[in-house]
Amino acid sequence: MKVTAKELGTLISNKLIKAGLDKEHANVVADVLVHADTRGYHSHGAMRVEYYAERIAKGGINTSPVIQFEKTGPTTAIFEGDNGAGHYMAKEAMTEAIKMAKENGIAVVGVKNISHSGALSYFVEQAADEGLVGISMCQSDPMVVPFGGKEPYYGTNPIAFAAPSSTDKKIIFDMATTVQAWGKILHARSKEESIPDTWAVDEHGEPTTDPFEVKALLPIAGPKGYGLMMMVDILSGVLLGLAHGNKVTSMYEDLTEHRKLGQIHLVINPEFFTSAKMFKDNITKTMNELNQIQPRAGFDQVSYPGQRSEERAEKSLESGIEIVDDIYEYLVSEAVHYNKYNNKDPFAK
Ligand code: NAI
Repeated sequence: MKVTAKELGTLISNKLIKAGLDKEHANVVADVLVHADTRGYHSHGAMRVEYYAERIAKGGINTSPVIQFEKTGPTTAIFEGDNGAGHYMAKEAMTEAIKMAKENGIAVVGVKNISHSGALSYFVEQAADEGLVGISMCQSDPMVVPFGGKEPYYGTNPIAFAAPSSTDKKIIFDMATTVQAWGKILHARSKEESIPDTWAVDEHGEPTTDPFEVKALLPIAGPKGYGLMMMVDILSGVLLGLAHGNKVTSMYEDLTEHRKLGQIHLVINPEFFTSAKMFKDNITKTMNELNQIQPRAGFDQVSYPGQRSEERAEKSLESGIEIVDDIYEYLVSEAVHYNKYNNKDPFAK
């Protein structure tokens, strides 16, 4: 069914507040989830609310976190999130990184001890909105087979990048380092649709098209994606002294536990490297040139990264966001959670 972005945001926020989250934090979580749903990233939108609400209600997300921001050098800082709602913490940390990069040309802010933070595009877009380049990466629970392996070791460890142009359009590249994000498997399950055999493997390490048979995901481009997810784990985990590799906490194992996840934001101020105007003009030029490349058969147009999601967002704001009926029914119901996720094997059917 279709809902407006405003209605969806209010429903999400109210549900999270009911679960125990502070209004300010709930509103930011809702904003990040609506950002994802409007862009067609349903895997990181409203479908996550029931899980978040259960984790909040069980104490696995700290509802009164004590945030600490420590500058460790002219361009470096550590943001301690005290296991509060990840979306709120990531936004706050990026806000600080932006301030530092405006002043010093570059900022690297390590974010420690947060819960799941959703679609990273939201945070890099904050930097691009200020005329800066943003790069964000974060840890996620181990569910990916390393190249050549049969057992999971790394998470879907996403990387996002945004650059401003001379118009209100931005390049926003945001991807899981797996062929698909885990949320896409959940989305396929919620719609009872099959998945391509390149996304994931079953219990024997063999490719599967049944989202209910999935036991681990596959990295993008074999050893190359595997190398990228390792890089993300090192920069957002090892570098910050956090649990890493297959010791990263699971999303579903114990919902009373804090997840203690890590994230890193890098912000670059183009003014310190070239003329900011020239930089933005050249980004616009890049976008236009890509759009003008001859499309091959089956393609209408070559899009720059983020273009399609931006078009989807414009459409969603005009004509509403398509969400699964069950999710809407949960959001409008009185229930906070159905005790559905605790100790659930993420790969269970
Ligand atoms: P995706 O595969 O849908 O898109 C990846 C990138 O490719 C995007 O930048 C998109 O703009 C670009 N793209 C897609 N089709 C294109 C086309 N035809 N032409 C040009 N560019 C195109 O994204 P994915 O990997 O499924 O990730 C979805 C979301 O999940 C992201 O927001 C990511 O941050 C989030 N995520 C969050 C995690 C967390 O723990 N917080 C873990 C994993 C993913």
